[in-house]
Amino acid sequence: ERAYDKDAFKQLISEEEIKDKVKELGEQISQDYQGQEVIAVGVLKGSFVFAADLLRQLSIPNEIDFLAVSSYGASTKSSGIIRILKDLDTSIENKHVLIVEDIVDTGLTLNYLLETLSTRKPASLKICTLLDKPDRREVDLTPDYIGFQIPDLFVVGYGLDYAEYYRDWPAIYVLPEEDE
Ligand code: PRP
Ligand code: MN
Ligand code: MG
Repeated sequence: ERAYDKDAFKQLISEEEIKDKVKELGEQISQDYQGQEVIAVGVLKGSFVFAADLLRQLSIPNEIDFLAVSSYGASTKSSGIIRILKDLDTSIENKHVLIVEDIVDTGLTLNYLLETLSTRKPASLKICTLLDKPDRREVDLTPDYIGFQIPDLFVVGYGLDYAEYYRDWPAIYVLPEEDE
């Protein structure tokens, strides 16, 4: 049985701070893609909350599709082995693709996705991540849009899980260390 008591967790980013940041990102993206259409590619499962909120802050025509990738399983450490569990439904050829992620940690997931998706000849390919943990990077990768840079802490909530739990929490919390 896992503790589902928020009081045992330290809050890192509040609901309000997330809301303001998502609005800011949506405005910036809408400005940068002005006169164009964008296809947002959410990386399941972690990005589903952020993708839903971000899309509603865009003022440009947009589509959404999802990819499911997994590398962490039930661990707090990346296995380094990325698997596509579900591919896109649609072609991205000649489309402006914006990958939407909840967090960039080692960068291995996105590095793999950039390689894979770029072979499909998109008109452009960019990354928007809510959270960035630059200290943990194992490959040279800089997201185009970053919500918050955070220190090397295992965080949950707002789509981010530990062993599939806590994705539903509306703010971002630090997983207590004894649980790792
Ligand atoms: C997490 C997170 C990112 C990825 C980042 O996904 O949502 O997709 O890890 O880590 P990296 O930069 O070290 O590759 P996870 O594999 O846990 O799957 P999930 O989204 O279904 O939770
Ligand atoms: Mn993920
Ligand atoms: Mg995960």
